[in-house]
Amino acid sequence: MDKIIFNNTTAEPLTFKNGKLRVIHITDTHIGADNEEMTLCLIAQALDREKPDVAVVTGDTISSDNNREEVLERTRRFMQLFQDRNIPVALTFGNHDSESGIVTRQELMACYNEFPCSISVDEGDIMDGCGTYNVPVLASESDEVKFNLWIFDSGDYDDEGKYANVSEEKVEWYKEKSKIYESMFGKKVYSLAFQHIIVPESYDALKKVNHITPYTYKGIYDHEGYYRFDPKMPNFGTLKEPPCCGAINHGQFDALVERGDCLGIFTGHDHTNAFGVKYKGVDIVNSLSTRYQDDCFSTQYGYRIIDIDEKDTSVYSSKVVRWYNIYKPENLSQYKNKGELIYKTAKSVALKGLRERFLQGSGHLIVRIFGLRKVKYKD
Ligand SMILES: [Fe+2]
Repeated sequence: MDKIIFNNTTAEPLTFKNGKLRVIHITDTHIGADNEEMTLCLIAQALDREKPDVAVVTGDTISSDNNREEVLERTRRFMQLFQDRNIPVALTFGNHDSESGIVTRQELMACYNEFPCSISVDEGDIMDGCGTYNVPVLASESDEVKFNLWIFDSGDYDDEGKYANVSEEKVEWYKEKSKIYESMFGKKVYSLAFQHIIVPESYDALKKVNHITPYTYKGIYDHEGYYRFDPKMPNFGTLKEPPCCGAINHGQFDALVERGDCLGIFTGHDHTNAFGVKYKGVDIVNSLSTRYQDDCFSTQYGYRIIDIDEKDTSVYSSKVVRWYNIYKPENLSQYKNKGELIYKTAKSVALKGLRERFLQGSGHLIVRIFGLRKVKYKD
């Protein structure tokens, strides 16, 4: 099939495999000297376990506070995991990737794209930032475009140093391309969107209260007051910190709602939040940070799996997998033989896992007893 070209933002199409598409959402790996080996080991294990058809990486990938060559070498070691397994990977950026100034988004994108497995796009100067594009997904048995992945660079900071949002020109690009897809294929092509920073509408989907109760957090910027899940809104997962959305809303979420082709928008940025809320027909979903960090290894970190069936692309299923779900030291040692470190980590993982699961379970029990949250807990 000819490439579907528009505004030069063309990624290689994916294909449903036997009618299925499995996406692994990796975000906020923050790979640096202190965590590189364990983070790469765990991601390798996750890829081998889940066998995704595509990986989407939504920024804050490599810590950029080291020297430039180190950052690029870390980037290459990260990409090699996907290359070794022939897993296509679509990447974009977070607020930290180019924050130090020692490497630009464009340079990082060029480094990602040294690897044939990268289907990421540097869209050039047609929009601000780098890494806003879409990835069409073709049917298993034909060239029909059955699904689509929108990848947005949500920027880093605005002029006042507050978090950014997807800019107006990217919103316009999305609306225009979404309309072109609809006219090309004679119907809306269902899709998912991925980016680093969550949309401000996440607050509209929560319940505002005047006091702190369990699982309630103080809002940021103009979102005064305290927020928790709204029992009347469909929601799932766990909210563990306030959504750190951008300060200025450029209308991205409204555009998704208006176009009606996006089932959900998946973000990272808020490392410990693993939740979703359905608002105006679009799921606002945050995924956990996919890094290794030894002080809260067991429940706070992991990745998200999203499955789509070609027979009905108007729905998808999603689950969070935390590191403690997959951690097996004997498996890690096949990737890197860390000997003593792995043994010690295994013991601490087991203990912390038990403790955190107990605390999490107690918290949910309290919330349910007091009727603060009426939906069934699941990721
Ligand atoms: Fe981050």
